[in-house]
Amino acid sequence: MAIGHRQAVASEATVDLAPAVPSHVAVIMDGNGRWAAARGLPRLAGHRAGVQAVRRTIEAAIHQGVGWLTLYAFSSENWRRPATEVSDLTGLLRHFIKHELAELAREGVRLRIIGDRDRFDADIQAELAHAERTTTANTRLNLTVALSYGARGEILAAARKVAAEVAAGTLDPADLDEERFGAMLSTTGIPDPDLILRTSGELRLSNFLLWQAAYAELVFTDVLWPDFGAEQFAEALAEYARRERRFGARPG
Ligand code: FPP
Repeated sequence: MAIGHRQAVASEATVDLAPAVPSHVAVIMDGNGRWAAARGLPRLAGHRAGVQAVRRTIEAAIHQGVGWLTLYAFSSENWRRPATEVSDLTGLLRHFIKHELAELAREGVRLRIIGDRDRFDADIQAELAHAERTTTANTRLNLTVALSYGARGEILAAARKVAAEVAAGTLDPADLDEERFGAMLSTTGIPDPDLILRTSGELRLSNFLLWQAAYAELVFTDVLWPDFGAEQFAEALAEYARRERRFGARPG
């Protein structure tokens, strides 16, 4: 029989190949600006509403039993936006970390940051480090926030590490495999995403988790990020549950 959607029958035993609920959902949050423009509001209003959607999505992930949630909050390319918008976004981030961390920690959320955090102001870097440190023991939801993140930069940094280790004689190129290379990425210790979701109708990965996305199911929704919440999260999970995941295996 075909390697099933969720289950395959191996002799008598039923093997769960891909559970109905994805273990790791990664989200490209898009459409804040368009949401604001449609209401005649400044872009900042869209980003503020986007933060509320972040809260709703974290709650929804916990409620649905998703163990890992990764949010693309600021790309390495976002620094090219006008200085006022960059400052608005970093201000929202500062506020989010300072004021929402205690609640997240109470809910059992462990926070990790991926990306080039050195580009943020020193106080934000300190808050991020504090948030990561104080939530390490939490296990209910592993929340990763991608900040100043770009997948090509991440892969290049790992390639540089490989080159340095080979040059130092501590790594034989023949010993480099996917597992070892993956462990040099910023997502080391984080499982690959099962589902990557993008809002606002754009059909791109935009330099997000390119290595880790190898076998992810992609779900796109027209909903703008500030309108996203529990209902849309549940719809994305339902779409995921309908997909047949074969990881390159041949059906038959
Ligand atoms: C894309 O909308 C969204 C962003 C560039 C930033 C996402 C940020 C947030 C949701 C708020 C901050 C998050 C945290 C965790 C504090 P866009 O501005 O590109 O929208 P557009 O494509 O409609 O212009």
